[in-house]
Amino acid sequence: MPRKSSPLFQLTDSSVRIGRQIRPMEVALEMPGDKSISHRSLLLASLASEPVRIEGLLGSADVGSTLAAIRKLGARARRTGESDCWMIQGRGIEGYREAEGPIDCGNSGTTVRLLTGLLAASPMFSIVTGDSSLRRRPMARVVRPLAAAGATLLGRDGGRLLPLAIQGCRMNAFDCEIPEPSAQVKTAMLLAAMKSSGVSRITQESRTRDHTERMFRYLGVPLTKRGATLEVTGPAEPRARELQVPGDPSSAAFFAVAALAVPGSRIEIRRVCLNPTRIGFVKVLQRMGASIQIRKTGEACGETIGDLITEHGPLRGVVVRAAEIPSLVDEVPVLAVAACLAEGLTRFRGISELRTKETDRVAALVREFSAMGAAIEAIDDDLIVRGPSPLTGASVESHHDHRMAMSLSVAALAASGVTEILGHRCVKISFPHFFDQLAEISGRTAQ
Ligand code: S3P
Repeated sequence: MPRKSSPLFQLTDSSVRIGRQIRPMEVALEMPGDKSISHRSLLLASLASEPVRIEGLLGSADVGSTLAAIRKLGARARRTGESDCWMIQGRGIEGYREAEGPIDCGNSGTTVRLLTGLLAASPMFSIVTGDSSLRRRPMARVVRPLAAAGATLLGRDGGRLLPLAIQGCRMNAFDCEIPEPSAQVKTAMLLAAMKSSGVSRITQESRTRDHTERMFRYLGVPLTKRGATLEVTGPAEPRARELQVPGDPSSAAFFAVAALAVPGSRIEIRRVCLNPTRIGFVKVLQRMGASIQIRKTGEACGETIGDLITEHGPLRGVVVRAAEIPSLVDEVPVLAVAACLAEGLTRFRGISELRTKETDRVAALVREFSAMGAAIEAIDDDLIVRGPSPLTGASVESHHDHRMAMSLSVAALAASGVTEILGHRCVKISFPHFFDQLAEISGRTAQ
């Protein structure tokens, strides 16, 4: 990464130092492609028989892991002209080639869990693994239902941890119930069902992100929804239709809260995915009193797309219900910044899933935000923030978690003095140009 420096925005290899932002930010921005839709686009394209063009693919390390994985399984992928357009030549629904070695999914939970669903339903042997963070994350949630559906999966700690060895099979249709509020687990089972013979039924009581369901419909994979149950009739090969990836609302959330952190600011974020299972953070910020306008502008591949316009104003504390958490699971860290700025108490209920992310985000949030002067604590499964907390610049750690690094950077805009964030380079996981965009909108000379 190039060295960049200015009195208030210094970017070096080991840390970024960000000073308080006084000047109002008035800008319009576009976000990089949605991470969840990018992973799904690559995996589904890799199972089509004809070439698929993907426009707007996120160019990040996590999506790079999925790209490398489908190549190992025999798909071909090349960039066309513009940097975020790709052509994928898939292998057809039965066509994956056994990989010669382990498939390394890097830091990406989405890659490993979705891929495990596909590999379990492919009659061949595979090994999947990842970096030290991913090797600590729970895998039993996919191993258990896939083993019950007929595949053989072995892993460390009795199948709870990576690496996993997968002896896949031609699966028959299955029924399963998913207790975790996880879209990754649901998608792993939907992908396995797409490759299985007959009608599979997948039940999940929590409402989690539904990009896979929308893409199945768009690509002609038979799917019906009956209450909390999804029925998939397989085997069904996805059609080779062009895919367009909208901007990532999870990335937009950092800039929406940045506008709320700096008096006088107005930030317009264009062409974002407005899927209701993803924009719970907008509803929470609106409940906190924030002025955020949603302007729908179009549709692509079954997703609604539009702009988010956020203006600075006073915020008040709110209760975030456990049932809302899946719609904002990745945004809790940046919503905690908004809670620090708000008048009164904010309580996020039922946030235990945050302990299973790239790091234990509950512990990381309490530790790092406390270091900046926030009144924040975790009680059982709740996270409580008492605002307004005057934030002060400090030396803080990302815990190698991209969303922690970006949330701390937003907090730095509102904190007195200078905040130094160590281990900031992990933003490459979902948003490689985050610091360039932040420096630009804050009018700093990032050199
Ligand atoms: C994702 C689902 C969520 C989210 C992750 C992406 C997906 O994970 O945190 O960033 O693309 O399905 P869980 O399914 O573990 O909640």
